[in-house]
Amino acid sequence: MQHRALGPFQVSAIGLGCMSLSHAYGAQVSAEQGERVLLSALDAGVTLFDTATLYGFGANEALLGKVLKPHRQKITLASKCGMRGVDVNGDGKLVRVIDGRPATLRKTCEDSLRRLQTDVIDLYYLHRWDKTVPIEESVGALGEMVRRGYIRSVGLSEVSADTLRRAHAEHPIAALQTEYSLWTRNPELAVLGVCKELGVAFVAFSPVARGFLCGKLQEVNTLDANDIRRSMPRFSPDNYAANLKLLPAYLQVAKDVGCTPAQLAIAWLLHRDEHIIPIPGTTSLSHLTEDVEAVNVALDAATMDNLDALINQNTVVGSRYSAQGNSEVDTENF
Ligand SMILES: NC(=O)c1ccc[n+]([C@@H]2O[C@H](COP(=O)([O-])OP(=O)(O)OC[C@H]3O[C@@H](n4cnc5c(N)ncnc54)[C@H](OP(=O)(O)O)[C@@H]3O)[C@@H](O)[C@H]2O)c1
Repeated sequence: MQHRALGPFQVSAIGLGCMSLSHAYGAQVSAEQGERVLLSALDAGVTLFDTATLYGFGANEALLGKVLKPHRQKITLASKCGMRGVDVNGDGKLVRVIDGRPATLRKTCEDSLRRLQTDVIDLYYLHRWDKTVPIEESVGALGEMVRRGYIRSVGLSEVSADTLRRAHAEHPIAALQTEYSLWTRNPELAVLGVCKELGVAFVAFSPVARGFLCGKLQEVNTLDANDIRRSMPRFSPDNYAANLKLLPAYLQVAKDVGCTPAQLAIAWLLHRDEHIIPIPGTTSLSHLTEDVEAVNVALDAATMDNLDALINQNTVVGSRYSAQGNSEVDTENF
């Protein structure tokens, strides 16, 4: 496994996004399968593990805490605050709430530490900027957690270049996590460049386009009713059918390179720049092996140009988030 710099850490060039082990894409996987995926990732040399308070409303952090505790010293453990489940209606049903107030972040950090069974979280991201709270206040609270030894470094997720600069002036930001793949190019507008300038690692989430770039998801009507892709315009039946037309040429490139479609998507990110760290997510052991082996895929400049032209903001149909999702992020939009 190759390594890349993330703040004070050297992490595997490909991390593991753990969200789908407890959340997001339909049917839940068993705790036993979650454990197998995490341990296989360790065996494959993955040292960056990404979770969040939100995922499974704490269940994902608890899973990582239980399984990774014996390996704690070997890994970089990243989690997130600022978005969590709250019983807003008093009916026992948790609803996703964005709340970046310092007191909430401090309480969330205590909960994360307990669930993760650790004394310190290596990287703690603000999952979403709560636009009702100045970014300096939320990041200031995270900086205070660093000083108190609860976390080792601060990250942000889905913020614009301007917000990143403001935050970085308040407390050094180790990593910015945002969706980035061939079909989501927003970070190319400004964020990637500002990360590079400030020495902030760029962690690319949903690097295989939530399955699209793996070439296997052909029929969105088969997705579970609670699969979050059902609310994403790009995955609506009409838009997805249009997007599928981009795949044959893409699959041909993978064939020519001699890798799988998922590996091509991840290798493309690794070749974009040295400060980019993709974190694919999977519930499958074979997909995990496949994704991690993308570190060994070499792409030449002509292939990179070809991919660039094939799948980009002008050829993809539909926005990545719903209107509600878009209102919650602070990223530049094409
Ligand atoms: N900061 C944020 O707001 C945010 C938002 C979203 C995600 N994230 C982070 O980013 C991580 C990854 O993102 P993601 O899970 O949304 O998207 P992703 O990694 O682009 O895609 C995951 C999907 O692709 C499938 N997949 C992965 N590798 C495959 C392969 N080799 N062949 C076929 N299918 C494959 C998975 O299915 P299988 O399970 O069947 O493999 C799953 O359905 C998350 O786990 C989370 O940690 C952060």
